Amino acid sequence: MGGIAIKGCGKGIPRYSLHNRDLEEFLDTSHDWIVSRTGIEERRVAAPDEDNVSLSLLACGQALERAGVEGRDVDLIVVATATPDRMVPSLACTLQRELGSRGPALDINAGCSGFIYALAIAFHLMRGGIATRALVVGTETLTRIVDWRDRSTCVIFGDGAGAALLAPCPEGEGIIAASLDALGEGDGLIRAEGGGARMMASLAGGLVPGNHLLPSPLPHLHRTWNGIDPFLRMDGKEVFKFAVNKLCATVKELCSAAGVGTEEVSLIIPHQANLRILAAAAERLGVPKESFFTNIQRYGNTSAASIPIALEEALRAGMIREGDLVILAGFGAGMTWGGALLRWQDGQAIEGGRTA
Ligand code: COA
Repeated sequence: MGGIAIKGCGKGIPRYSLHNRDLEEFLDTSHDWIVSRTGIEERRVAAPDEDNVSLSLLACGQALERAGVEGRDVDLIVVATATPDRMVPSLACTLQRELGSRGPALDINAGCSGFIYALAIAFHLMRGGIATRALVVGTETLTRIVDWRDRSTCVIFGDGAGAALLAPCPEGEGIIAASLDALGEGDGLIRAEGGGARMMASLAGGLVPGNHLLPSPLPHLHRTWNGIDPFLRMDGKEVFKFAVNKLCATVKELCSAAGVGTEEVSLIIPHQANLRILAAAAERLGVPKESFFTNIQRYGNTSAASIPIALEEALRAGMIREGDLVILAGFGAGMTWGGALLRWQDGQAIEGGRTA
């Protein structure tokens, strides 16, 4: 049985950037506090004419082009999102229509571990002979479900999409180990009740008082559900401890499954949640903090989109070379966590398929 590799990556980034200084205008916070506690300087906010479909299509288009694959050659789409544009049907089916693809198409929700879950699902479906070319997408419009009056959450999250094209490669290259896990006991630590069948979006009321303070084009984001709390809420301190533990455990588990030492890993691309989480994990793992790729400074936490966006940027920056060992690792709502260890294979030549 051959291997499965990521052959092309892409990202879809909203046009509008909201800097910490902009938040100071309407929120009791400061640029210095946000930078010192999280590392975030700015985040992207989807404008009214942008959504998960448009951002994902940008990301998928880049991933396909870089892999030299046409949309019609894709026979599996797995999308990870915690903020789908609508409940039914799945975003994956809409992407399939737009891209002219075929085969199974499904959405999954594993919070900020979503991309890793989607990657592992696609990997195993491909290994099982269900598909030969897969698009794995992580996409979020979190700024539409955060409470812009809640400084403990709204400063953290941002919008965006990332995609990876998976195709066959020689055994021992590409994805060489993957791990997934969840602890449902932590299901209250990060939650958003709005928009589900128990709290239908049709209950939406008017704009929250004070929205007029927000800079354009944000006022469209603020809706309330007649007294019911629909917004994203988080127990930041508990999540912080969980994240450091699970990130370290995932890196160790993947290295041990593949029989390699952590020092052999060239780059770790973690979910971009907080620079302090990454610094604490680096210290605990005994690796330099430069082992972790970071771009949270510019995008905030984009949940399921953060790892594919980071991977695309690491590749574009020339930080990953043929043969490098790379770890992707995520953790998030559920609580969920997981990772993948890859021996990087150059994205241009696809076995048994088209080439760029
Ligand atoms: N600006 C200014 N002050 C703020 C603030 C903000 N944006 N957010 C919270 N504060 C205040 C609090 O009200 C509190 O004030 P008090 O001492 O007067 O009560 C103080 O800062 C400390 O709050 P605390 O919640 O203890 O801060 P913290 O050091 O734990 O940092 C987080 C808060 C959210 C940044 C941090 O807990 C975190 O990053 N957790 C992980 C979150 C995460 O990664 N989630 C996604 C995982 S997938």
